[in-house]
Amino acid sequence: MKPDALRELEPDFWRAPSAHNTQPWLLRYLDDAVEIGWDPARTLPVGDPSGRDLRLALGAFTETCLIVCADAGLRVDFRQAHSEADRRAGYLAGAEGLYTTPFTTQDVRDRRTGRGAYEPGHLDEAVLGRLENLAADEKAEVRRVPSRDLIELAFEGDHHQFSTPRIARELREWLRLDPADPRYEQDGLTDRALGLSGLETRALRAALSPRGYPVLRRLGVPKLLASASRKTLDYDGDVVVLVGRPGCTDGEQVALGRVLMRQWLTLSTLGYTTHPVSQIIDAEITKQRLARMLDIDDPSRLLNITRVGRPKATPPRSARLR
Ligand SMILES: Cc1cc2nc3c(=O)[nH]c(=O)nc-3n(C[C@H](O)[C@H](O)[C@H](O)COP(=O)(O)O)c2cc1C
Repeated sequence: MKPDALRELEPDFWRAPSAHNTQPWLLRYLDDAVEIGWDPARTLPVGDPSGRDLRLALGAFTETCLIVCADAGLRVDFRQAHSEADRRAGYLAGAEGLYTTPFTTQDVRDRRTGRGAYEPGHLDEAVLGRLENLAADEKAEVRRVPSRDLIELAFEGDHHQFSTPRIARELREWLRLDPADPRYEQDGLTDRALGLSGLETRALRAALSPRGYPVLRRLGVPKLLASASRKTLDYDGDVVVLVGRPGCTDGEQVALGRVLMRQWLTLSTLGYTTHPVSQIIDAEITKQRLARMLDIDDPSRLLNITRVGRPKATPPRSARLR
């Protein structure tokens, strides 16, 4: 494999999902491999202090690279060499054969996060079984929870996020609420991706602005913002939780990011859309309550929580750096 051959595939690699759409990955082209690392300026030290979402995004990116390379006829595999100190997940390196995957570059391009309303209805048992099998390949589990059972946890998680100044500040850095912002087409969360109306966009901008935030926070605006999550979960639908094995290491979390990507692509190719509701596992208190609800001994095993369903409208395409 000539590492340089991967350069022109980067726009498709970059379609991988990441929390707040930070796209934290970095590629370093070496003589015989391409190193996958990350940019600390594109991590979320406040909202994701353990690095869980960072590692899942690195895994999702790795899987995306492998799918896109295979579709381009490049024989590439991944050599895991996770190091927090070196900010490295591993290497894309030459392989004997093409990476085996049922997915194509077009599947990668078509997958989207959908934050709008979903049709009522539950995941097919056979589809759930496929998600479980993908998780089991990495000794993880999948739990399905009715979306309505999570309304209060999501509200509390969002309330925690909006009422904690450090978290709100970090979120503001990744919001792109003005189309005139040069970063609007590059990264972060746009009003379009969040499905906000003009009025909601202006209200959110004011609520999180450096001057408005302290005053509005005292007036209870975080509660108002958080109540929006009630609407997204108040229907007859499903939320899927990815649960790592006890003692899951950082490297294994990257591998589970690859699993997550396979699960989301499986769903997307079947016409489902995904919408992570990480606020529930970002706040310690709601994470513990979810662990109790699912009878999971150690809350840190809860790695991802995502609403899944058939969207009522096609979700918008999100921004990318490449
Ligand atoms: C590990 C992880 C956690 C995420 N958590 C959330 C979340 O809590 N809420 C949300 O709306 N989107 C969440 N997302 C979705 C990202 O915001 C989304 O992938 C990104 O904006 C790019 O958009 P796309 O998935 O449509 O390509 C998460 C994505 C990943 C990979």
